[in-house]
Amino acid sequence: MEKYVRITGTGSAAPNQVLTNADLEKMVDTSDKWITERSGIKERRIAPPGIVGSDLARDAALKTMEMAGIGPKEIDMIILATVCPDAPLPSTACLLQDKLGATNAAVMDIVAACSGFIYGLSIARSFILTGQMKNVLVIGVELLSRFTNWKDRNTCVLFGDGAGAAIVSPSGKPGGILDTYIKGDGSLAHLLQIPYGGTKVPLTVDNVCHDDRYIRMEGPEVFKAAVKAMGEAASAILERSGLRGEDIDLMIPHQANIRIIEATAKRIKLPMDRVYVNIHKYGNTSAASIPIALDEAVREGRIKSGDKIVLVAFGAGFTWGSALIEW
Ligand code: ACO
Repeated sequence: MEKYVRITGTGSAAPNQVLTNADLEKMVDTSDKWITERSGIKERRIAPPGIVGSDLARDAALKTMEMAGIGPKEIDMIILATVCPDAPLPSTACLLQDKLGATNAAVMDIVAACSGFIYGLSIARSFILTGQMKNVLVIGVELLSRFTNWKDRNTCVLFGDGAGAAIVSPSGKPGGILDTYIKGDGSLAHLLQIPYGGTKVPLTVDNVCHDDRYIRMEGPEVFKAAVKAMGEAASAILERSGLRGEDIDLMIPHQANIRIIEATAKRIKLPMDRVYVNIHKYGNTSAASIPIALDEAVREGRIKSGDKIVLVAFGAGFTWGSALIEW
């Protein structure tokens, strides 16, 4: 059994259609200045009708498999993190498996909102370290545009669609995914939720037009919790391995708000030139945000062999977590 677990490929995909802050100015009472200053977002991608999460996931997965040099039959497991499944049943991972022809894979969806990719990496690493799986495809994919209230300026300026993926495999070479840290607090669920459409309040002819079928968020409360939890997750994983901020070559945070990212970097004393930021291009793509950023960082040459990378996320639930990687 191999002792180490490595990311051997990354990939991402986003719809072509761009929605800019100027476009949003025509839809709700907002401004490019407010959105840019309060969140750091300039534009986001929106999937056209007919495109579903498993389509974006397939595009991201194919690029990932190409980089890792493996075919669909070599994937032993697909872990797909999403809060926007193609349908309530079956899992989007099953639909993706069929689109890829990954017929040897065990398949599951996980729901951990914006922390989903880190939860997925943690599960993949555990299955590999116990010798049960070899090549695990971990995907974060979201079409939050389908659950966004386009009349609510508090939320509609923030979210976007996309997918990002990684192949995680056993390795004999020291390094790779050194540690993962995952946490949750369900007592604060009400601060960020889609209240209708589950078994608690099923959609009926009487409530199908209610705004509670969309994302509801108490923004400032979520902001405070995100700053606290992301700071905790970043410092805890460093502390556990005896590292300090100055030992980290690149932090790849969940892209929800540039001010949350800056506060997290400050907490571990990391200068912003060692933080990967692409929020201006995609907005908050929830579980897809970290793997999209990771893939861009890899393809731009921002990550080199031996670099120490911290991934850190926070999302609805609340959930939060981090991963420490030696590339
Ligand atoms: N345009 C103009 N004004 C706006 C807009 C907008 N798009 N949205 C809200 N406002 C107004 C509000 O109505 C409010 O006005 P009021 O004071 O008159 O009531 C005011 O702006 C609020 O402003 P701020 O206090 O400056 O808001 P804040 O600094 O908290 O920024 C934001 C708001 C961007 C939503 C921030 O709270 C945030 O990023 N929250 C966290 C989001 C997050 O991290 N989510 C993570 C998980 S997402 C997931 O899991 C799917």
